[in-house]
Amino acid sequence: VSLAGRNTFRVAARAAMMADVSRADALAELFEFAMLREGPVLVLGEGSNLLFAGDFPGVAICLTMAGVRIVRDDGDTALVRADAGMNWNDLVAWTLARGLCGLENMALIPGTVGAAPIQNIGAYGVEVGEFIETVEAFQRDTGQVKRLSAADCGFGYRDSLFKREADRWVVTAVELRLPRQRELRLDYAGVREELAAMGVATPRAVHVAEAISRLRTRKLPNPALLGNAGSFFKNPVVDAATAEALQAANPGLPAFPGGDGKRKLSAAWMIEACGWKGFREGDAGVAAQHALVLVNHGHATGRQLLELARRVAASVRERFGVALEPEPRIIGARFDDPA
Ligand code: EPU
Repeated sequence: VSLAGRNTFRVAARAAMMADVSRADALAELFEFAMLREGPVLVLGEGSNLLFAGDFPGVAICLTMAGVRIVRDDGDTALVRADAGMNWNDLVAWTLARGLCGLENMALIPGTVGAAPIQNIGAYGVEVGEFIETVEAFQRDTGQVKRLSAADCGFGYRDSLFKREADRWVVTAVELRLPRQRELRLDYAGVREELAAMGVATPRAVHVAEAISRLRTRKLPNPALLGNAGSFFKNPVVDAATAEALQAANPGLPAFPGGDGKRKLSAAWMIEACGWKGFREGDAGVAAQHALVLVNHGHATGRQLLELARRVAASVRERFGVALEPEPRIIGARFDDPA
C-alpha cells in the first residue's frame, strides 16, 4: 500500500497493509489478527508529523470516526468529546462557533484530534494538554479501551505518555474542558500586531483564531503546496546559566521560559545563524520562510530529508554546543544512528 499521499512530506513509502477503522470497539477484534498482535503497527492520522525514512513493514491503521459533541455543559464550561479521526482545525472551529474558547491559539495546526495529545500540540503560548480532561485510548497489551486523566497522560513540551510508549496506545477520543470566558493569550510575538492590522480593537477568541491563522499562513509553508511536517526540531530546553551564556555570546538569540526555571532556545534562530535558511540540495531543503521547517521540493526521499536534518543538527551542535531533537516521528530509522 502506498503511503505517498498519506504523509504531508509527500515522501514515497509503503506499508505492508492498511486498515481503516470506523469504531473504537472494533480495535480489540482487529488486534486479534496475528499480524497486528505481533508485528509493528502504525496509527496514521493525516501524516502531518511523520517522516518515512523507509517503508513500514507492518500494518498502518487509520481511524476514520470523526464525531464531536458536548457531553456536559455547566454554563461556565463545557466538556467536548471528539473522535480521533476528526480534523483538528475543524474541532477548533466547531468549539469557537459554540462560544467555547481555549483552542483559538492552536487554530490551523495540521493533523487529527487523535494526534493532538500524542505530542501535546501547541502554538502561540498554549498547549492542548491544558484543556484535556480525558483521553480515551486502546491499550494494546490488555486489549482494553482505557480512560486516562490529564495527569495520567504525563504531558510535557511536545511530549506525552502516548509518545513515550508509542507502540502501546491507539488514541480513540479526546475530551476537552473548555470555558465560555477566559483571558485571551496575546503575548506571543506577532499576535497583537496582527489583530491591529485586522482592525480589531477588542478581540474575542474568534479574532485570535483568525489572526493566528493569518500568521501561520504567512510564516509556515503550506503542506498542500510544499511537502513539510511543520517544525522539524523541538526548541531545545537548557538550564538558565547555559541560556544566559549562549545569549551573551550570541546577541539576538531568543529564549523563552521553559518550565522549572529552564529556558527554551529558538532552534530556528540557531539554524538560520548556521546559514541553512532556504538551503536546498536536490529536492530536500530548509524552508525559505522558516528555518525550523524542512521541505520536500518534489521528489526528495525520506532518507535525503533525514540526512539533511542530521547535517543541520550537527552544525548547530558544533557552533552552539546544543543538541537538537527531531519533532516529527521518524519511521524506519533512528535520528542519532550513523548514516
Ligand atoms: N526565527 C528565526 N528564523 C526563522 C524563524 C524564526 O530566527 O527562520 C526566530 C524569530 O526570532 C522568532 C523565533 O525564532 O521570534 C520563534 O519563531 P516562531 O514564532 O515561528 O516559533 P518557533 O519557536 O520556531 C514554535 C513551534 C511551532 C509553533 C510556533 C508558534 C516548536 C518546535 N515549534 O516554533 O509549532 O507554531 O512556535 O507558537 O515548538 C510545530 O510544532 O510543528 C510547529 C509549527
